[in-house]
Amino acid sequence: MVVIAPYELDAAIAALRAGDVIGLPTETVYGLAGDASNPDAVARIYAIKGRPATHPVIVHLADGGQVSRWAREVPASAEALAAAFWPGPLTLVLPRHASVLDTITGGQDTVALRVPAHPIAAAVLRAFDGGLAAPSANRYGRVSPTTAAHVREDLGAAVAIVLDGGPCDVGLESTIVACLDGRVTLLRPGRITVPALEAAVGPLAESQADAPRVPGSIVSHYAPRTPVEIVPVQAVVAALSAHVDAGRRVAVLAPDRVSDARALTWMDAAAEPEAYGQSLYANLRTLDRSGADVLLVADPPTGPAWAAVRDRLTRAAAH
Ligand code: TXA
Ligand code: MG
Repeated sequence: MVVIAPYELDAAIAALRAGDVIGLPTETVYGLAGDASNPDAVARIYAIKGRPATHPVIVHLADGGQVSRWAREVPASAEALAAAFWPGPLTLVLPRHASVLDTITGGQDTVALRVPAHPIAAAVLRAFDGGLAAPSANRYGRVSPTTAAHVREDLGAAVAIVLDGGPCDVGLESTIVACLDGRVTLLRPGRITVPALEAAVGPLAESQADAPRVPGSIVSHYAPRTPVEIVPVQAVVAALSAHVDAGRRVAVLAPDRVSDARALTWMDAAAEPEAYGQSLYANLRTLDRSGADVLLVADPPTGPAWAAVRDRLTRAAAH
């Protein structure tokens, strides 16, 4: 089991109370966490990430009982989703409480809330007894970190404390759902699938043109530095040949059964969506470091369980 030593917890809480930020493991990805009610702490998060100030951040809470401190209204749909999936990889977008900082909401009338399940995140939140703003602990526009080492790689000396909770279980950012104006809308796919959400609250609404902004969804987010090309699995070897013939070095993420020695690196693509998602960002980092000119990725299967993986891959390829 993943545990945190008492002295580490004390140091983390002292840093958070002083308005500092820490690297925090969650079950989805590592977060860069700071006191959500301290403007200096929130400003520090934005500065370290290099993130535009108009992008809202998720507030992490110890339990659902704290939601009313952050949301002025908790619709029945949100209650049902929280009961079904918290603690866990689900973020709810709700009407904001008047006291929430504009820098948290990006100036919108809504706030994003999540109760994470990771034992270290849970222990820190319980001891802190407040909301922690925590975007993924990567520099703006890059692949999210799924290990403490990734956080250090990305943010280095800018963050003194990075709690090590081991590799993240889910590996992809949380499912984001808006419960607003009597509608339940999916804003970002994640481990919790549409069928699972619908089992809890009934059919979701179609995304509206006036749906809340999810700036993390802009194209070219989650991108490695090397261009990504997605091809059908049966076309991987042909695409590899074409690149190699043209003098390009190629790294591949595809099932091992079609492996080809001309690839610089070949990462085996998991056959199950959970395992694929858990390893995706670490795999993209490895491929990115291989010195390849292009990253070839076999198109993963379709269906609700693959939606989050497909979403992140599409963004990674949309350079
Ligand atoms: O799994 C996760 O959600 C991770 C871990 C650390 O909890 N956090 C994460 O945060 O992915 P970040 O900042 O990288 O992405 C948060 C997303 C962004 O796309 C942001 O635009 C959206 O949540 N968001 C935050 N507040 C929102 C709001 N009020 N309305 C709509 N979208 C919001
Ligand atoms: Mg992010």
